[in-house]
Amino acid sequence: MFDPHDVRPLFPALQRTLDGEPVVYLDGPGGTQTPRAVSAAMAGVLDRGISNLGGSFASSREADVISAAARSAIADLINSGSNEIAFGQNMTSLTFAVSRALARTWQAGDEIVVTRLDHDANITPWLVAAEERGVTVRWLDFLPESGYDLDYSALDGLLRENTRLVAVTHASNALGTIVDVARVVEAAHSVGARVFVDAVHYTPHRLVDVQSLDCDFLVASAYKFFGPHTGFLYGRHELLAQLEAYKVRPAPSDPPGKWETGTQSFESLAGVSAAVDYLASPGGSAAAVPRRAALQASMEAIGGHEKSLAAGFLSALENLEGVTVHGPTHKDANRTPTFAVAVAGLTPDEVQRRLGERGIFVWSGHYYAVEVMRRLGLLEAGGLVRIGFVNYNTTEELARVIDALDQLRVGTPQ
Ligand SMILES: Cc1ncc(COP(=O)(O)O)c(C=O)c1O
Repeated sequence: MFDPHDVRPLFPALQRTLDGEPVVYLDGPGGTQTPRAVSAAMAGVLDRGISNLGGSFASSREADVISAAARSAIADLINSGSNEIAFGQNMTSLTFAVSRALARTWQAGDEIVVTRLDHDANITPWLVAAEERGVTVRWLDFLPESGYDLDYSALDGLLRENTRLVAVTHASNALGTIVDVARVVEAAHSVGARVFVDAVHYTPHRLVDVQSLDCDFLVASAYKFFGPHTGFLYGRHELLAQLEAYKVRPAPSDPPGKWETGTQSFESLAGVSAAVDYLASPGGSAAAVPRRAALQASMEAIGGHEKSLAAGFLSALENLEGVTVHGPTHKDANRTPTFAVAVAGLTPDEVQRRLGERGIFVWSGHYYAVEVMRRLGLLEAGGLVRIGFVNYNTTEELARVIDALDQLRVGTPQ
């Protein structure tokens, strides 16, 4: 499996708490820790110097190589073609770009579907586009009373002949629920609607496969899978070609370049390739195993490791009265090891602060999953605390998190 030491230590002031405890860096506080190989790849580009794409000199040729390598890395990561991958500042900007381009093809009276399980980055861009075009928005709910699953039974009733788009998350960044995207795609395609998938939270935990999902678009952010702060967009090649992108005149008119605005962050693209290689590394050496096959093996191993962390967390919580998980808790639930937690008697911000003092970095509030918190009736009350494990977290770290929650619960004055 992964060696936690492969991950670059946090900057010195944060490596240890005042009590000398090493910090526990969980998923969520603005990203994951980056492996050394990622930061080295990025620093290498900056150290050597780089130019823009398409010139007949060494530093420009290097930019071409870095860009092509990053597309090919993401194509392996999600099982697409390289020419179906465009990079951008982050998932949110790419989603705004696609929503504006798609909305140009909508007419007043058309309809779209968004879900209450989604991060706001896969909701608001569609609400804005719908408002501008006079398009009706229909909401697909999730069911706290039945495993926090998306309400698949309501989907068919929301789809009409003039439904143009369904925007859905692959996994909830708040509750950890994994969505059966293939099922949503099948229903949406039966009425001719396009499907736009937010895979930001899913990608570090499970292997994405756009072929088996059969989705039309998918977006994710490398900083969630141990890379730099850069987003990518997958779109079926014919759709990326057909749709009119918002672009300047000299920019490429073919995909994927027409979807990339301005000069790309080449150091980030080098980091993206290194992050995919890092994810693939436990699955076999690059020389011996094709990268997609290595990714399949290592993501399966990640899934197993995370499943045992999740099971350990949930079973420990059974004995911690006053600490409640909002989200799927059944032992066979298809979920990521990301937990939305409430501690009786403490606000989520207070829990974040107190865990932070113990060197445990978590997030509190709504984490942009505004509709999730509204649906749970917790938006005004300050949301929840997100405790999310990733591949590099260890069972010792899990034990420290449990212990810290136990101490909070006991209410020891801090
Ligand atoms: C599920 C999910 N979707 C979208 C986003 C937004 O991603 P970005 O910051 O790259 O715009 C996040 C960020 O936390 C997320 O967790």
